[in-house]
Amino acid sequence: MTASPETQPASPNSPKSAEQPLLEVRDFQVELIADTAIIRAVDAVSFTIHRGETVTIIGESGSGKSTTAMGILRLLPEDLAVLSGTVVIDGVDISADPKAIDKVRGKTLALIPQDPMTALSPVHSIGSQLFEAIKIAGAASGKDKAALQARAVRLLEQVHIPTPELQLKKYPHQLSGGMLQRVLIAIALASEPQLLVADEPTSALDVTVQGGILDLLLELQEQRGIGILMITHDLGVARLISDRIHVMKDGAFVESGEVQQIVDHPATEYTQTLLAAVPVLGPWDETPTASGRRAAGPSTTPDPALTETGAKP
Ligand SMILES: Nc1ncnc2c1ncn2[C@@H]1O[C@H](COP(=O)(O)OP(=O)(O)OP(=O)(O)O)[C@@H](O)[C@H]1O
Ligand SMILES: [Mg+2]
Repeated sequence: MTASPETQPASPNSPKSAEQPLLEVRDFQVELIADTAIIRAVDAVSFTIHRGETVTIIGESGSGKSTTAMGILRLLPEDLAVLSGTVVIDGVDISADPKAIDKVRGKTLALIPQDPMTALSPVHSIGSQLFEAIKIAGAASGKDKAALQARAVRLLEQVHIPTPELQLKKYPHQLSGGMLQRVLIAIALASEPQLLVADEPTSALDVTVQGGILDLLLELQEQRGIGILMITHDLGVARLISDRIHVMKDGAFVESGEVQQIVDHPATEYTQTLLAAVPVLGPWDETPTASGRRAAGPSTTPDPALTETGAKP
């Protein structure tokens, strides 16, 4: 598959069908107005996400991944970002009616932001931040404290946070990075979204915690059939979780396809470089270095496992 359009954008008034994509992006472009120049941060990208699918945008730092996600969610400052193209979210054409984003953001569509340390308020408890998200989602009234508490506990259980009642009373600095990332996912799930946009949800975490978060996202997808737009610079993560991958460079997709096709037969040198950058543990090198210590660490040779079948069926 390529990034070229497969279907025409759905009309906002058309009846919902099982085939209607959750997200349809066509020729989407974002120009950022900087002091001295206009930067085309996103250059005519097109892609589609259906229910139960994970579509990943991968690319080096500065390639335009976050700008794509933030542009789709209309979270870029209006006076600094000029958007064009078509974005249809669950049948609602956001490009034709930008105010329509308010009907879907935090409801049909939720964002898992990049950095759990800065995304949460340090002066409010986990509970109060989760209660706020539940109230905004309309899942419980602010007056019904028992219902808010029950819903918050249920959400923390869903993301496998132990002793949720105790965690609700804690502040962000009292939780580990992995737990905070789970709290952000719980906040995103408060509205029972159909589509999750996850901007580097695991890049701040060590590999074992990272694996737990990816498993959790896949579990939620299996249980609830949600669509996921995953953003990462890590092809190892992309390979584990994706159905399709779009490789981004300088604001444009240079390659798009099924995960196995991209991993087994990368068409561009850029993707080959991303593949080669996936660290693997090489054989322990006993050769002493000049400092007398053993040289060890990730090998930069391509991971042979990457030529196996992708983890996601
Ligand atoms: N506020 C801004 N003002 C000017 N240029 C910006 C601004 N934000 C982003 N850019 C530029 O837009 C381009 C895309 O940046 P973006 O943050 O989307 O990249 P990214 O792929 O998400 O990178 P990373 O992997 O580091 O998160 C870059 O060239 C960046 O310099
Ligand atoms: Mg980014």
